[in-house]
Amino acid sequence: MAKTHRIAVIPGDGTGPEVVAEGVKVLTAAADRFRIQFEFQTYDLGGERYLRTGEVLPEGVLAELKRMDAIYLGAIGHPQVKPGVLEQGLLLKLRFELDQYINLRPVKLYPGVKTPLRDKGPSDIDLVVVRENTEGLYAGTGGFLRKGTPQEVAIQTSVNTRRGVERCIRFAFEYCKKRNKKKKLTLCGKTNVLTFAFDLWERTFHEVAEEYPEIRTDYAHVDALCMWLIKNPEWFDVVVTDNMFGDIITDLGAVIQGGMGIAAGGNLNPEGVSMFEPIGGSAPKYTGQGVINPLAAIAAGQMLLAHLGHAAAAAAVEQAVVKTIQNDLKDLAAGKMGLSTSQVGDRVAGYVSG
Ligand code: IPM
Ligand code: MN
Repeated sequence: MAKTHRIAVIPGDGTGPEVVAEGVKVLTAAADRFRIQFEFQTYDLGGERYLRTGEVLPEGVLAELKRMDAIYLGAIGHPQVKPGVLEQGLLLKLRFELDQYINLRPVKLYPGVKTPLRDKGPSDIDLVVVRENTEGLYAGTGGFLRKGTPQEVAIQTSVNTRRGVERCIRFAFEYCKKRNKKKKLTLCGKTNVLTFAFDLWERTFHEVAEEYPEIRTDYAHVDALCMWLIKNPEWFDVVVTDNMFGDIITDLGAVIQGGMGIAAGGNLNPEGVSMFEPIGGSAPKYTGQGVINPLAAIAAGQMLLAHLGHAAAAAAVEQAVVKTIQNDLKDLAAGKMGLSTSQVGDRVAGYVSG
């Protein structure tokens, strides 16, 4: 009997529950076909629970999540909850507490998907961003002086540890090697201005690079990289960067791969519990209408399968997504798909079942 994977499902806010339901549908179809055992346990974390009880992430729940094999997350963010409460108290807290030090974000344009980049196609847009996920400006260090006065000072510091930077860069080299495509790793930084933080990144990058002679290395300042991602996305294979720059360039990446309807990511702790999510938000205005695109959540499920060692099942889900786009969808945008959210899930699940 194969091992049972215990998956914590956090549907979350807004359209999160709708897209996660389709993701679970597809994971279940993949499990049936590839004889994988999943046990799903749902957690009602998010804005509704916070408004009802004041709880964001109770200690007991966190302890349970730490014992899971993976977490599958829909979306966090509620119009009646002050910005930051759920993001910091739930999403970032999970990333930090579970030490998910990599945020892996593939940027891949599938055939049939519209990209805003004129003259670029699937062979040009196929890269992966490895974003550091536990440090940098997200570490939460800083504070106010004389808050609320005309002399107010606000300080927010980027934290970069040798250990944190090195484990991220090492992961990126390994990933680039295993991916086995262009075998090129680009460090994205700002060495001309952030002369402490990115000095550490650059030195570490070159030191680790010595262990990977088969990987070509490259460097780009973050501003220039934003430009090249639009002009020449085909230059990139794997990009490694810090938390803040990774956040920004992956929204740009999501747009060139067809938008938030398709972009997914994994918060990875290669030695612990990882969490997979569509990278878009909770889209409150579409909630409950059945018009949101579940493909990003389904793609997050595909990453979950790959992470748990089910490469064939992950590949089947990817092929099913591609078929659904080619055969069944008019557009990837919410409300323009020509199918409802659950119909899209049905199509993908149908193709997975074969
Ligand atoms: C993301 C999101 C989060 C981030 C927010 C919601 C805290 O934008 O996953 O990219 O900044 O990391
Ligand atoms: Mn973001």
